[in-house]
Amino acid sequence: MGASAIILAAGMGTRMNSKKPKVAHELLGKPLVRWVVDAARAAGVDEVVTVLGHGREQVIPLVEGDTAIVFQEQLRGTADAVLACKEAFAGFDGPVLVLSGDCPLITPRTIGELVEEQTHSKAAAVVLTMELEDPSGYGRIIRDSAGEVERIVEQKDGSAEELAITECNSGFYCFDAQALFAALEQVSTDNAQGEFYLTDVLGICRAAGQRVSALPTAHPEECLGINSRVQLAQAARHLQKRINRGHMDAGVTMLDPETVWIGPGVAIGRDVEILPQCFLYGKTAVGEGSLIGPNTRLTDTVVGVGCTVDETIALEARIDDYATCGPRAYLRPGAHLCEKAKAGTHVEIKKATVGIGSKVPHLSYIGDATIGDGVNIGAGSITCNYDGKAKHHTVIEDGVFVGSDTMLVAPVTIGEHALIGAGSVITEDVSAHALGLGRARQTEIKDYTLPRQDACRDGHGE
Ligand code: UD1
Ligand code: CA
Repeated sequence: MGASAIILAAGMGTRMNSKKPKVAHELLGKPLVRWVVDAARAAGVDEVVTVLGHGREQVIPLVEGDTAIVFQEQLRGTADAVLACKEAFAGFDGPVLVLSGDCPLITPRTIGELVEEQTHSKAAAVVLTMELEDPSGYGRIIRDSAGEVERIVEQKDGSAEELAITECNSGFYCFDAQALFAALEQVSTDNAQGEFYLTDVLGICRAAGQRVSALPTAHPEECLGINSRVQLAQAARHLQKRINRGHMDAGVTMLDPETVWIGPGVAIGRDVEILPQCFLYGKTAVGEGSLIGPNTRLTDTVVGVGCTVDETIALEARIDDYATCGPRAYLRPGAHLCEKAKAGTHVEIKKATVGIGSKVPHLSYIGDATIGDGVNIGAGSITCNYDGKAKHHTVIEDGVFVGSDTMLVAPVTIGEHALIGAGSVITEDVSAHALGLGRARQTEIKDYTLPRQDACRDGHGE
């Protein structure tokens, strides 16, 4: 699109009451500033410059590589922040967007509209405005008798008459680069806050006879700025509605969308059904027709088609087509359920592959293991992978049947189609097709519970 963007993100955000700078706080797993960068990118913005100040060491890793970074040494106002980018824009002669790093709800569509308006009107400045029932705190848009934008007045500088205006500055703008940097040189601190106001640029351009205009937005919620944890929660709600609506439109069923939280990087196939109380975050993907939830959290987990994932927590796991897990399964990083495999109830799996059609149905821990195809692991079985110093691997080959309550002390290999007797502690390899038993032989003491003669004297019986 030939446009560039400046993202203002130098503020601390005192009202967050946090050690973290405001723009590093996350919404659905993505930092505020990233929402703005990504919206600009999705709108087709070529060059993005982020202005950092407070807590920069925490924000740099969130944007570096993807945007240029400029530091504002002292926070002397929004105009000063934009002026800090002057060198970065030397010789640039196109539209420059100014976006707030703490307004994560802005959409690529609205950014595109701002650029289009500036490009078509060739205005020195276009400001995105919004009508608010309660405009307090925002800059007000002052129009002349012909209805043209004249200037913006800040809350602390406005007269009673000006403050009665309900058309507000959203804090999003698109400028002509040359006009912007020329006007910035003329901004002073002659105002109630003693700050360099970016908003003064509009009045300065207008006074110089340049065109200045306003683009009223039909979506004021996109301009919600985050100053507090309460606003962070409100923004999360907005995003939840937007994201869930997108998935529902694309063919996903949700019984109770208000209890389903899906991050921006999640992909969901058609005819997936998501039951209440689910969280899908990170690079999670779910294939067509799978049933997710209730009470399920998937982070960076890939689920195939036709799976059932019931009351499960999965982190960096893979659940292949037609596999099932839960209720109450815990799949930790590196857990991989192959096609039609099953991790049942109260089962924990870590760094382990469960082969095609293999089943770990109840109360088991499988860690650092390779389980072949068609294996059945009896209830309550455990791969004892840790000796207090190092982790060791367990191999269970195809077709093995492990009886209930078996301890497999790693490193150990169970050959294919072997059978392990219930209650065994297996410390040595078991050959293919063998029966492995590692338990005490059963003994029997006859007549053990018959009444004894001497019991009468203790008064326990006749
Ligand atoms: C600003 C506008 C106001 C508008 C409102 C919309 C000005 C003077 N006022 O007010 O008209 O209605 O946004 O939300 O611009 N920042 C810096 N460096 C600074 C100062 C601010 O990077 O020196 C950043 C902040 O971190 C923030 C953004 O600029 O991301 C806006 O600053 P903020 O102080 O929140 O502006 P408002 O007073 O809300
Ligand atoms: Ca301020």
